[in-house]
Order: sequence, then C-alpha cells, then structure tokens
Amino acid sequence: MSLLLSKANVGGLNLKNRVVMSPMCMYEVKNEDGILTPFHFAHYGMRAISQVGLIITESTAVEPDGRITKNDLGLWNDQQADKLKSLVSSIHYLGSKIGIQLNHAGRKASDANYPVAPSSFEFSSHYRTPNELTISQIKQIVQNFGTAAKRAANAGVDMVEIHGAHGYLLHQFLSAVANKRDDEYGGSLEKRYRIVREVIEAVKANYNGPIWIRLSLSDYDTTGTQNTMSDWQQIGRWLEASGIDLIDASTGGLTDASPDFPVHDGYQTKFATAMKQAVNIPVSTVGLLDNPGLCEYILQNNQADLIMEGRALLRNTNWLSDAAKYLHDKNFKEFNDSYSRGQD
Ligand SMILES: Cc1cc2nc3c(=O)[nH]c(=O)nc-3n(C[C@H](O)[C@H](O)[C@H](O)COP(=O)(O)O)c2cc1C
Repeated sequence: MSLLLSKANVGGLNLKNRVVMSPMCMYEVKNEDGILTPFHFAHYGMRAISQVGLIITESTAVEPDGRITKNDLGLWNDQQADKLKSLVSSIHYLGSKIGIQLNHAGRKASDANYPVAPSSFEFSSHYRTPNELTISQIKQIVQNFGTAAKRAANAGVDMVEIHGAHGYLLHQFLSAVANKRDDEYGGSLEKRYRIVREVIEAVKANYNGPIWIRLSLSDYDTTGTQNTMSDWQQIGRWLEASGIDLIDASTGGLTDASPDFPVHDGYQTKFATAMKQAVNIPVSTVGLLDNPGLCEYILQNNQADLIMEGRALLRNTNWLSDAAKYLHDKNFKEFNDSYSRGQD
C-alpha cells in the first residue's frame, strides 16, 4: 500500500488519499457574475469520480474587483453561495472532500474598475498602476474575506484556503518587493504580515473548519529585496500561532520574473521541506509532480505531507488510477464496479 493513495488525517481533514486537486482558474464564468456554471460541476465532478481525495476550487474572489479576470468565480453574494452549496453536496455525494480558495487579486486584478495594492506600483507594463489602499479600504477587504468565509461555511465546504501566493494581494503585502508602505501595514516583516493575520482572524471568526494558506516561498527576485527562507519560516511560525492548519508551499508570481533556480520534477518541494523544518503543522507541495513514484518518495521521506496535483489532473483525469498501477497499489479502489471493469 502506498502512502500517496492511503487514508490520512492531514491539515485537520480526514482524507481518503494524499492527492489534492490544486486550485486552478478556469475562466469559465462567461456571465461575469462569479457564479459556478454546469462546466464547474462536470469539471470538479470528474475529479471526484477519479477519486481525488480533496478538491480545492479555483481562486474565488471575495469582492468583484478582487477577481483576476471578470470570468473568475466569486463569493460576495448569496446566489454565488447557493450554487457553491450545490457543488459541495455533489462532490460529497461522489465521495470526495471539497474546499475553496479565497482570493483578492490586488494589482493583478486585470479587469477591476479600481485596481488596488499595498503600494502604487504595477505588476508589469501590461497592467494598470494600482491605487494604494487606505487603511479603511484594507479593513474592508479583511472584512470581505470574513464574509466570504461565512458563506463558504454555510455552503458546507470542508476547508478554506487563503490565497497568500502568486503575487495576489496578500502576497503583495508580505513582500517588500511590492509593499513600500511605511504605516502599520508595511516596513518590517511583522507589519507586512499584519493583513494576513487580520484575514485569518476574520476567517476564523466566521468559519470553524480547517484553514490552509498558500504561500510563494520565493519571488525569483535577485535584487536582495525578497523575503529570505528564514523570513518565510518566521511567517510560518506566526501562521501556526494564528491557527493555520496547513501551509501550501508554492513559489513565484509576484513579478513577471522566471524561476532563478532549475525547474525540474518536484522543483518546489525543497521550499516545502524548508518550511516543515520551522513549523509543527503539515506542509503540502505542488509543481511538476506528475510522476507518482516521485510523490511517494517525497511522502516516504517526510519532505512534505500532501501532494497537490495541477496540470497532471487536467491532462489525465485517470491520474490516480494510473498512479495505483505505477505504485503496484492493489488497495486503490475505482469509483464503482463499472469503473473497475474499465481496468480489466
Ligand atoms: C490553468 C491554471 C490555473 C491556475 N489557477 C490557480 C489558482 O486559481 N490558484 C492557485 O493558487 N494556483 C493556480 N494555478 C497554479 C496551480 O495550482 C499549481 O500550483 C501549478 O500549476 C503547479 O502545479 P502543477 O505542475 O501540478 O501544474 C493555476 C495553474 C494552472 C495551470
């Protein structure tokens, strides 16, 4: 029996395996109303049928101007929450757990009427210059995370992931590369962390299930301004103290820079492992983990606690079944007897 495909209790959740569908924007909300469509029910349902242990929905905005594009999902009104409730019950019917990734895109909100950021610097020359947030606007965004978490709780999600990575608003605050403020939300690492602490408090006040956070543990910045791994480890300890149940370790996205280290299978796992050394909560890994043998190696060697699969699941909805064959894991069960017959 493999660790990858066996049951586990990780990050506050009982999971049927250690494979998580990584959040991936589908830009399929053609009506621009942030509401889940039949596409999403099929898209996530297929992965539940293929036995993914936990599905984390794509980046879902806490307010209209927090969307990456106008075709993103949102959770700022009750209609959006009602559809989410239906999706949650479909995925539960199919036997998987489902969580939601809550996000505000900040200066990367390409369709926002009024793009905002900690400081007034654009992401790249293809983006508009964002407006520097006032303190009262920051407090409103924090509150919007809390209200979205309440709607997610009412919809019955199994976990909430706060998007603190890939150059979106919370990452912009955390990194001195994008945060040039000199008030209580900028300057020292502790001040740059402040909005994240407040968002966690707002989510916790409205939702009492597992709360995870995705972080980018490198900005690929070569100017010496980015957080060092020891800064990220300090943030990890604060997150643990704030009650976060799992750190989802990714990299990049703050600027348009490419990785300044070799990109190969499992290239981001070393960041997860470094974070694990600093905290007593689980850490997941993501990025080019298509090879099930590599996933099993990472878990067996305690380099990370959960495996997030992104593009591999887009390419191959049978990824888990194929992984079971690769790992000679006879305990893996297809969704039902008919699907088992497909393996004859
Ligand atoms: C189409 C697409 C959309 C994505 N959207 C999101 C997103 O909404 N939230 C997020 O945290 N990461 C997003 N990502 C990043 C993935 O979750 C994942 O971290 C990345 O693809 C690396 O993993 P992989 O090599 O398994 O694909 C997206 C990736 C892709 C390919």
